[in-house]
Amino acid sequence: MCGIIGYVGSRETLPILLKGLSCLEYRGYDSWGIATIHKGAIAIEKDIGKVKDIDVPAISSLLKGTIGLAHSRWATHGKVTRENAHPQTDADAGIAVIHNGIIENYAELKNELENKGYLFSSETDTEVVAHLIRDSYKGNLREAVLCAIRQIEGSYALGVICRDVPDRIIAARNESPLVVGIGNGEQFIASDVPAVLEHTNRVVYLENGEVAELSAERVSFFSLDGKEIEKEVHTITWNAEQAQKQGYPHFMLKEIAEQQIAIEQTINERMTDDEVLLPELLMSEAEVKDIKRVIIVACGTSWHAGLIGEFMLEEIAKIPVEVEYASEFRYRDPIVEKGTIILGISQSGETADTLAALREAKRKGARVISIVNVQGSSITRESDAVLYTHAGPEIGVASTKAFSSQLAVLYLLTVFLGKIRGVLPLQQVKNRIRDLRLLPLQIQSMVDDTTEVERLAARFSATQHALYLGRGINYPIALEGALKLKEVSYAHAEGYPAAEMKHGPIALIDKKMPVVFIATKDDRTYKKIISNIEEVRARGGIVIGIVSKGDNEIVAKTDYHLIVPKSSYILTPLLAVVPLQLLAYFIAVKRGFDPDKPKNLAKSVTVE
Ligand code: AGP
Repeated sequence: MCGIIGYVGSRETLPILLKGLSCLEYRGYDSWGIATIHKGAIAIEKDIGKVKDIDVPAISSLLKGTIGLAHSRWATHGKVTRENAHPQTDADAGIAVIHNGIIENYAELKNELENKGYLFSSETDTEVVAHLIRDSYKGNLREAVLCAIRQIEGSYALGVICRDVPDRIIAARNESPLVVGIGNGEQFIASDVPAVLEHTNRVVYLENGEVAELSAERVSFFSLDGKEIEKEVHTITWNAEQAQKQGYPHFMLKEIAEQQIAIEQTINERMTDDEVLLPELLMSEAEVKDIKRVIIVACGTSWHAGLIGEFMLEEIAKIPVEVEYASEFRYRDPIVEKGTIILGISQSGETADTLAALREAKRKGARVISIVNVQGSSITRESDAVLYTHAGPEIGVASTKAFSSQLAVLYLLTVFLGKIRGVLPLQQVKNRIRDLRLLPLQIQSMVDDTTEVERLAARFSATQHALYLGRGINYPIALEGALKLKEVSYAHAEGYPAAEMKHGPIALIDKKMPVVFIATKDDRTYKKIISNIEEVRARGGIVIGIVSKGDNEIVAKTDYHLIVPKSSYILTPLLAVVPLQLLAYFIAVKRGFDPDKPKNLAKSVTVE
């Protein structure tokens, strides 16, 4: 929810921190703050507003030094004010702290500290940490931080500097992600990988309860009990360039356009012409045959992917599936019988509710498999097996290429399981693989020419309400299309099963509100969709159809339409979602909003 970056080395730290903040701003952008140590003193500059609006010349002379911390905030405790921006310090600014997470027992700790005479200047939970460290400091900063975090309940990714030890950064992590970038003669901490990629592709992921001590020359790692531990260094295959916009106006458009590559990277190594290969599933054939049920847990767009995964797994692999909001599953005391697979879907791999749901399921004895995009993220490290999407870094807050890559992995998993369980004959395996191979180029054809969707976005750029309707496997796409519009254009949009319209939403139909139908041609509910379209038109409603190429029958029944290539019923969602992603993006841009940083949202919801 917040962005953290820290540097210690031989270079001036300010330019490195500012660049790192701009890479992380999608995580939170209510306010920003920077602290450096120079000539024995900690200097701090901070304010509300976005990183891009920082008056760099004004702060450059104030923030000298080769060590520093920087933070972009997404407010949890305390209003969006300058005082509540991080870094937070102890009373005489001898210790500066940046924090991502929520200290759940901060009120109790604050009370204890106030009783000891400590004075507070902010409403944040983070300030408690600065005073706790001061209260524990006896000359060893790492020990003081360890003592402080042992008293904390809740989530944190912390960066700490102290003017008495001007060449050290102490970092600590519990639940909120934190990586250490390993450089040559310089070291970094960051909330996630893109912020350090320009400087190093060697990273260490801190686990819960771990602490790192960084100096320019080395990094040491410690467990909560203070014992030094060894940590694996991961080499990241992404380059910094990939994580930048590459000429697109926004990450969101770049990532919509990258879906062909994202899906190709996700599927190509995992199939031949007649077989799907998923060794990373780490299950024997006997174990696959023993699967009794799959419970999918996720949030937001990833939950929509789960709904489509349910169709795939039940229809092709004949496995009972239920899809749960992770935030609900974790508090429901669910029944998890023997033979249950819990499938967590998450782009970031850091969503707190999804992580907690997986832990709850694991506690109940389930095998946990996750579909995740970010290498080495928390969810991957708590799963029994990980099926990575290889979509590359997804920076835009609205998930697009990760979503379609999740669907591709779900499809591969379905074919893989169906074949082993003997419910998918070889020829069908070949056909399913053939259909999937065609998909990336079909998607590319829709992003190559956006004339029609831009025209539609201009026509509806002022809309305040919209209804998205779909049936069957396209119902989750109706939900996803509505979420995309809500997220980036702030119009109120609702996704609904088209048949449900008669049970309420039909009362909303008027001459202003566009009704988007996912009306691709299939032999199941197509005729029902036509009836639903007629019901809307009979009431003077405006119909936008997502229609299959060559289907002129339905075009005649819509006011506007966007064409998608034909594919199998089960793969249609990966095509139908693309025009809806583009429509939301172009409406947002026409309304003058930044689709990469929608208000109130963050890319990774690492708090409850
Ligand atoms: C999707 O566009 C949203 N940004 C949001 O719903 C997101 O899908 C959700 O927060 C889950 O994130 P995850 O996939 O990283 O777990």
